[in-house]
Amino acid sequence: MSEQAPLSRLFIIGPMGSGKSTVGRHLADLLGYGFIDSDAEIETRAGADIPWIFDVEGEEGFRRRETAVLEDLARRSQAVIATGGGAILAPANRDLMARSGVVVFLNVSVAQQLKRTGSGEGRPLLQQGDREETLTKLMAEREPLYRELADVMISGAGGNARRVARHIQSQLTERGLLFSDSE
Ligand code: S3P
Repeated sequence: MSEQAPLSRLFIIGPMGSGKSTVGRHLADLLGYGFIDSDAEIETRAGADIPWIFDVEGEEGFRRRETAVLEDLARRSQAVIATGGGAILAPANRDLMARSGVVVFLNVSVAQQLKRTGSGEGRPLLQQGDREETLTKLMAEREPLYRELADVMISGAGGNARRVARHIQSQLTERGLLFSDSE
């Protein structure tokens, strides 16, 4: 790990409501990097919000857009990229992230997700059926993929976002994935 080039691109993965965007923004700030939210980028490019994309193009259409955006974002340097909860589903996306950056998994409990996602507004996958059941099912399907892809896993990321970001920074430094300021 210590021979690795200085980190220049970081992907944050994890389920809905794990705080990827909030923590990602703080982390970018700490590192002096840019921050990009892939969901926001998808919306900007589509000129429509995610519920609209799901309505009109289905989840399949959304996933196509997600892959295209990730391919572009993976070319940015000095960037912290927050991904959507399902970005790890496509093997092509996983390959891309593994090849082009360091991957941080924010692992939170379903109880924390429930609290943070509120009524599920803006998240089409939470609009049908019981939200707790849906989140539990998605977590069971996806957690092995998050774990497999992650270089660093941070558990219980429900706390203060700035503190979580500092914790990630120190984990990355400890593992030789990030050069500290003094180096
Ligand atoms: C999704 C998560 C959402 C968004 C879309 C699908 C998912 O992002 O990409 O609604 O499949 O888990 P967040 O994880 O930022 O909520």
